[in-house]
Amino acid sequence: MKVLDSVKIADDLIRSYWHPIGHKSELACDRDFIRFEIKDFEVIVINDKGNFVAFDNLCPHRGARFFTEDFGNQFVKCLYHGWSYSRGKVNVAGVKNFQGCGIEHAALNEFRLEACGDFLFFAIEPRSSLKEQLGQEVFSILQRVSGDIDSCADFNRYPFQCDWTIALENALEPYHIPLIHTETLATLQLGVGVNDFFAENSIWYSPVENEKVAKRLKSLNRFYATTDPFQGYMSIFLFPFSMISSTFGYSYSVQNFFPSPSTQSTFFTSRLYPAKNSEPRYKDMTSGFVQSSADINRKIFDEDHQICRRIPSKSWSTSPPKFTSTLEQKLLHFRASCAQWNK
Ligand code: FES
Ligand SMILES: [Fe+2]
Repeated sequence: MKVLDSVKIADDLIRSYWHPIGHKSELACDRDFIRFEIKDFEVIVINDKGNFVAFDNLCPHRGARFFTEDFGNQFVKCLYHGWSYSRGKVNVAGVKNFQGCGIEHAALNEFRLEACGDFLFFAIEPRSSLKEQLGQEVFSILQRVSGDIDSCADFNRYPFQCDWTIALENALEPYHIPLIHTETLATLQLGVGVNDFFAENSIWYSPVENEKVAKRLKSLNRFYATTDPFQGYMSIFLFPFSMISSTFGYSYSVQNFFPSPSTQSTFFTSRLYPAKNSEPRYKDMTSGFVQSSADINRKIFDEDHQICRRIPSKSWSTSPPKFTSTLEQKLLHFRASCAQWNK
């Protein structure tokens, strides 16, 4: 049977790139952790006495999973035989009974971790530094955005029942918005806007053409301490698996579409990070707006999920589709980037 292009390239993409995994505000306290599933492994990032560490969720003894929750605050301690990790070291329970096996070398299977501002990225064997991968311009934008963020207000996770390529391409084109997001995103009446391409990454800047909505959004400006955000809808694609979108910079939605072991499932996670308020007393006043943004975002992703479920994985390949709208420019760019890995 023919191996699908998306299957051929997924492992290489996972291994060779930096992937956004969280924001430092989610790991503010000692023992805070977040967990992500990617293909057939899990990444944990923890705050270890102020140091951020990323590692494989399997205990180095006999491979029990340390964490099963999506995020929380917990010791790194294996429930099976009690091995634990703290201050950069694995502590072996009953260490005296491990003889002649080099137990002093017992360590977590660590991944690389780097920051762009307050955004954390993990990698396995990256082919370049994080800065090189993102490019100076995207790096600077993310740095600025990450500094505008207050903390995570909504964590939304479930598998999309489609291949990762299908889910991502849907997120890359606005052509579907009027039909799929009639009552949600489409009410902003997003304009054609412009696409900026930075190596394999891209940004779509689109004006909010519903004047009433735009006016209402602009009036919220004084409640936020944002640094020159785009006055419209912005959607950043970080090749290969992640998107960051925002309307007027009042909150940022970060989405990961990680490949799963199956072509019928994608590990989808979206998190909503509201921007910092210009004054502490505005936090209460804007909480309703944050909640409604979270609710609408959840609805939008659900609408995306429902349509993506209809698209079988064999509908995707690294070749361009035969017919393409100008609104599918980012999709062509994505396929061209993927084609580099399909040789
Ligand atoms: S598997 Fe973790 S301590 Fe044995
Ligand atoms: Fe959509």
